[in-house]
Amino acid sequence: MPTARTLTSWQLKLADPEATAALGHALARAVQVHLTEIRERGLQMGLSGDLGAGKTALIRAMLRALGVVGSVKSPTYALVEPYAVSSLDFYHFDFYRFSDPSDFGSSGFRELFGPGRLCANEWPERAGDRLPTSDISITLKVEGDGRLASLAATSELGQACLTSAIAEYQAGSGGT
Ligand SMILES: Nc1ncnc2c1ncn2[C@@H]1O[C@H](COP(=O)(O)OP(=O)(O)OP(=O)(O)O)[C@@H](O)[C@H]1O
Ligand SMILES: [Mg+2]
Repeated sequence: MPTARTLTSWQLKLADPEATAALGHALARAVQVHLTEIRERGLQMGLSGDLGAGKTALIRAMLRALGVVGSVKSPTYALVEPYAVSSLDFYHFDFYRFSDPSDFGSSGFRELFGPGRLCANEWPERAGDRLPTSDISITLKVEGDGRLASLAATSELGQACLTSAIAEYQAGSGGT
């Protein structure tokens, strides 16, 4: 996974699954605010953290808030689940099952990244250097009964989206 300089980072305590869902909803609202730029440039989100940390739960909530009805499956087995939301192609990837980073090159997935596409990538570290650099990197860690979310922006668009999302999240959770 190519690394990029972090422009801004945040940490949020997510006390329960509802807090994870609220962050997903806030990310969805940020996508709507920055839709024009995302259409022009595309947006890459990397989601790291152990098995069961909440990566899929976060993206599921984001997709629901973007209007996806019906099941939102984990892409663990299919590797990618595609959605059409807010006139974007949204690809939810999970690279956990890649045995070698070169699998990304042979998968043909590279062509799914680019303008008009929002790619949310679980286990980005398993996809190697050909995975486009994340604009937003989110790491979830089990902490007590809840989760600690570390959010980092590594592009100006990522920074704009995360700034909006954090403001939305804090407004919704009473500023905590
Ligand atoms: N803030 C939270 N506090 C406590 N539990 C949470 C929180 N957020 C999510 N969970 C729970 O943690 C689990 C997360 O499962 P999920 O499938 O999203 O993990 P994952 O990170 O995608 O794992 P994998 O790497 O296997 O894909 C769910 O049972 C969810 O209810
Ligand atoms: Mg998952």
